Amino acid sequence: MAVFQTIKEMLLPVRPVMTETVIPAPQTSYSIEPLTSKSVRELVRLNARCFLNGENYTKATFTYLLNDPETVSYQMLTEAGAMVGFIFAIRNTNGTAHLTTIGIAPEHRRRGLGSELLKHLEGRLVEKGLSIVALEVRVSNTTAQALYQMAGYACVQRLENYYHNGEDGFLMTKSLY
Ligand SMILES: CC(C)(COP(=O)(O)OP(=O)(O)OC[C@H]1O[C@@H](n2cnc3c(N)ncnc32)[C@H](O)[C@@H]1OP(=O)(O)O)[C@@H](O)C(=O)NCCC(=O)NCCS
Repeated sequence: MAVFQTIKEMLLPVRPVMTETVIPAPQTSYSIEPLTSKSVRELVRLNARCFLNGENYTKATFTYLLNDPETVSYQMLTEAGAMVGFIFAIRNTNGTAHLTTIGIAPEHRRRGLGSELLKHLEGRLVEKGLSIVALEVRVSNTTAQALYQMAGYACVQRLENYYHNGEDGFLMTKSLY
């Protein structure tokens, strides 16, 4: 359970923000690139638009992760070079990886970008010799659960009182082989 505690401690409560009116973005092409600390400010801004429930990664957490050799992270960019998605996983020493966060800008959702980022990340994890991915998701986050289930993840445990506001989570895992 140590890894659960580590991930939990990365999520610091922040003031919830107002929801925004979402107008779907014009069609564009997308590319996936590794994330670097040069993009941390854009990443923090996008993250705040993706997670509106009052628990969020801070700039310090992202800066730490972007400099951590065990962290694998990618961004989704538009043709114009704007960041519209991100994904992070931490490699464990036992051949498993922990998907710590994924987010897609609201105006670019439901275009397959979350699935693409996840597939890309899993491919890189396989190349690095990792065989299992685990993640936690709020029981109320049925959107993310649908994405993960479609990608082959299965719920293996309910984590009671997992989040700061007392909400339960689901532990989901996928074998990459
Ligand atoms: C979860 C999230 C990353 C999905 O990104 P996305 O690019 O919209 O996902 P995709 O377009 O690849 O969707 C893949 C599948 O997930 C499911 N899905 C995605 N959004 C859905 C929604 N709003 N309602 C129901 N199912 C949904 C569908 O099965 C979808 O396949 P389909 O469009 O062929 O039906 C995005 O909604 C997001 O950033 N949410 C806020 C951050 C978050 O909750 N992250 C996860 C934390 S654990």
